[in-house]
Amino acid sequence: MSIKIFDTHAHYDDEAFDEDREELLSRIQQAGVARVVNVACSMETSEKMPDFISDYDFMLGTVGVHPDDIDNLCNADMDRIKELSEKKGIIAIGEIGLDYHYDDIDKELKKKWFATQLDIAKELKLPVSIHSRDAARDTLEIMKSENVLDVSGVMHCFGYGVDMAREFLDMGYYIGVGGVVTFKNGRKLKEVVEYTPIDRIVIETDCPYLSPVPFRGKRNYSGNLTYVAEEIARIKGISVDEVYELTYDNAIKLYRLYEGTE
Ligand code: NI
Repeated sequence: MSIKIFDTHAHYDDEAFDEDREELLSRIQQAGVARVVNVACSMETSEKMPDFISDYDFMLGTVGVHPDDIDNLCNADMDRIKELSEKKGIIAIGEIGLDYHYDDIDKELKKKWFATQLDIAKELKLPVSIHSRDAARDTLEIMKSENVLDVSGVMHCFGYGVDMAREFLDMGYYIGVGGVVTFKNGRKLKEVVEYTPIDRIVIETDCPYLSPVPFRGKRNYSGNLTYVAEEIARIKGISVDEVYELTYDNAIKLYRLYEGTE
């Protein structure tokens, strides 16, 4: 079987790719990358997303505002997110969520815009890509109070332990696994991969960030997901081909990319 990678979370519009974006993306399918979801993180990146992804037939996109970027949001921005979500190739709301790592923005404000964007996803019946760091309990609480059971989604770049993984899995969410699973100090994520049923794992780069070993610290890209797939295969005791195939199918389900819906 040939490699068929589905990168469920990338940022190819990042300036880290400005120098060679065209060249890199023109040969990405030869590296086995079949599909990429390019994820927005601000109003600015959301605004540009429909146009950006239209240049690449293997690429889909999201619109939404990351918790580190919500400080100047207003209600009109949310109306705009709704409009943008109707554009061709936009298939999810993200990345949205909670991040308490830096405390420069008020927590209550972060919670408010996370809940608001979850509401939008629910209203539009779109899946969500959720970013959650150092905020496990509040993330869970908001997802529960917003009643997101009928919104499918992924816990992107999952950074919590098995106990939290169980909570999100119970709500029907997928676990996003990237380069960290190859790190020597990635034990917590390796345990989560061991615990999570293979039909609930998707793979992601979060590129340009989080390159797997042996490229840790360097700029990441979707072709590096072979290293992530190999580590998942090792942990699960299945073949790498199975990991490619299953995580691909999972991503199709997560983003609801059934025939006729794209
Ligand atoms: Ni990201």
